[in-house]
Amino acid sequence: MTEGASLDQRVAELATVESFEPPAAFRARAHATDAALFEKADQDRLAFWAEQARALDWEKPFSTVLNDTDAPFYRWFEDGTLNASYNCLDRHVAAGLGDRIAYHWRGEEGEERAISYADLLDSVQRFANALRDLGVRKGDVVGIYLPMVPEVAVAMLACARIGAVHNVVFGGFSAEAVRERMAVSRAKVLVTADHARRKGKLNAVKSVLDPALEELPDLSHVVVVRAGADPAQPCPMREGRDVYYDDAMATAAASCPAEPMEAEHPLFILYSSGSTGKPKGIVHSTGGYLTGVSYTHRLVFDLDPERDVYWCTADVGWITGHSYAVYGPLANGATSVMFEGAADYPHPGIWWEVVERYGVSILYTAPTAIRACMRWGTEYPARHDLSSLRLLGTVGEPINPKAWLWYHTVIGQERCPIVDTWWQTETGSIMIAPLPGLTETKPGSATHPVPGVCADLVDSSGQTVPEGTGLLVLTEPWPSMLRTLYGEEERYVRAYFSEFGPERYAVGDSARRDTDGYYWVLGRVDDVLNVSGHRLSSGEVESAIVAHDKVAEAAVVSEPDEITGEAIVAFVTLRGGVQGSPETEADIREHVSARIGKLARPSRIIWADDLPKTRSGKIMRRLLRDAVQDRELGDVTTLNDPGVMTALRDRIASGG
Ligand code: WT7
Repeated sequence: MTEGASLDQRVAELATVESFEPPAAFRARAHATDAALFEKADQDRLAFWAEQARALDWEKPFSTVLNDTDAPFYRWFEDGTLNASYNCLDRHVAAGLGDRIAYHWRGEEGEERAISYADLLDSVQRFANALRDLGVRKGDVVGIYLPMVPEVAVAMLACARIGAVHNVVFGGFSAEAVRERMAVSRAKVLVTADHARRKGKLNAVKSVLDPALEELPDLSHVVVVRAGADPAQPCPMREGRDVYYDDAMATAAASCPAEPMEAEHPLFILYSSGSTGKPKGIVHSTGGYLTGVSYTHRLVFDLDPERDVYWCTADVGWITGHSYAVYGPLANGATSVMFEGAADYPHPGIWWEVVERYGVSILYTAPTAIRACMRWGTEYPARHDLSSLRLLGTVGEPINPKAWLWYHTVIGQERCPIVDTWWQTETGSIMIAPLPGLTETKPGSATHPVPGVCADLVDSSGQTVPEGTGLLVLTEPWPSMLRTLYGEEERYVRAYFSEFGPERYAVGDSARRDTDGYYWVLGRVDDVLNVSGHRLSSGEVESAIVAHDKVAEAAVVSEPDEITGEAIVAFVTLRGGVQGSPETEADIREHVSARIGKLARPSRIIWADDLPKTRSGKIMRRLLRDAVQDRELGDVTTLNDPGVMTALRDRIASGG
């Protein structure tokens, strides 16, 4: 029998195991092994949070912990001042840790850069000065649209150093998505790249972006990182507006002391999908956010900054990258891996090669990536020495028990606890997760709220559901919570604090609580889609489809997918009763890619003569979801024309 087959057999054997104790060897050296931590947090929650905040360096210590007089506009540590980049860099260098590696960067073609804390501090100071030279001041918004190169962290921290508010857009989003996010946040400067490398190809970034930038009156400068120079495709530069990163660094002064910020000063905006077409500009603070990410990064990953090599595979363009590839690990003085490439380039074993190469001890990734690795086969990890690994984490969507067991057996070799971490862009940091040296884990459950966080399950009237399925709510404010939606205070209140009042944050997920009090997050209850752990809104994808000139109407739902978790299915009605064709289908997919990004392309388009609507004209996505998943249709009595669903079911059965 091959080793792969015996591992697969082991995975099958473990399927009957309900829960897993922390492995004894792990537990023996773990930081948190005492449930008293939970009691301590419960006894005096605010004192507990104050203690976590004091692990940071404050220029002026805070005297108040929480100001909730204007709930749900909560203010944490409000009379204290601190600087996030100081906490991530200067204080470690001052403590003699300047030579410690902050990032082992590895490029797609195997290039390596080891960046120490002292190196990073030098670059950040220079770039902070460069931004000032371009006119950036405290409170100004700076856009960042970069691939996974070290400059992305430099740019974020340089903003933090001078109080500029960064607005990172994921590199997989389109030029149009960048334009929209820069326009609504009135960004003054955009930091981007000439090209981006992806699976051996060099994709133009700046030249594709240029037409979109024309429409941004507030944007005065564009900084261009040379991330993949190609002499054959010179990057267009506009005199007076565009400047190369290298040139800006060369002329900037070397020293830029970190400017102390009020704890509530916004650190960044990150746009995320809501249930309607318009993205939400989620605003995070300086003091509370940094408290939340550094505390959870230490606790949930059992971090030992002297010994661990930590790798969060998320792109910096998502909240996971912000909190657990940049601010959390750097605030804690950790050594991280930053990997430019895709999981299967140049070969499907590359991640395991990277783990072996740098001796990664903590790996944090998403269920979709684990499922892809499962499909590629056990032989790829088997070719590498994974004995450095001691802890595994997952985030982004519920993890199916089979993937959990595969991760546990094949990657963790039954030696590493798995932390399934539930949180959101809005929560800033991990809310529900096991403490790896303490919590018994159950595959598929994120277990319990971390100390300091309070959750509950309620029914639609707000009554607690002690056991069984309900809506997840967070019942007490926490330091790293979002502060508002940029420029949309009323939407902030409506989206999160109207359903169950200003004291209970409505998460938007449903969950189950079992007899042991474990939480099992089931998924979104709104029209938010989760494709490969990436959040998209049905409304956003629909608007992109409808903007195509042949399209009259569209409705978007998801269906389960073995690798991506959810896949997008679009029901499309064409103008003038025209019938759909494979060409139109390809054209619509391309159109969505250009408006939002490749990740938003529907995996299936079903041509519909009509869509199920209520008498008031609202499309009933719920019925479409039932239909694509071949389920019994729910209540159809509110439909204007119940016959529509029969016709659609025939279409689905015939393959669209
Ligand atoms: C939504 C938030 C937080 C970083 C990544 C996504 C889903 C996230 C889990 C998990 C079950 C999860 C939820 C949540 N989700 N982690 N461990 N188990 N579901 O951030 O894009 O803001 O999406 O992702 O549905 O509401 P996001």
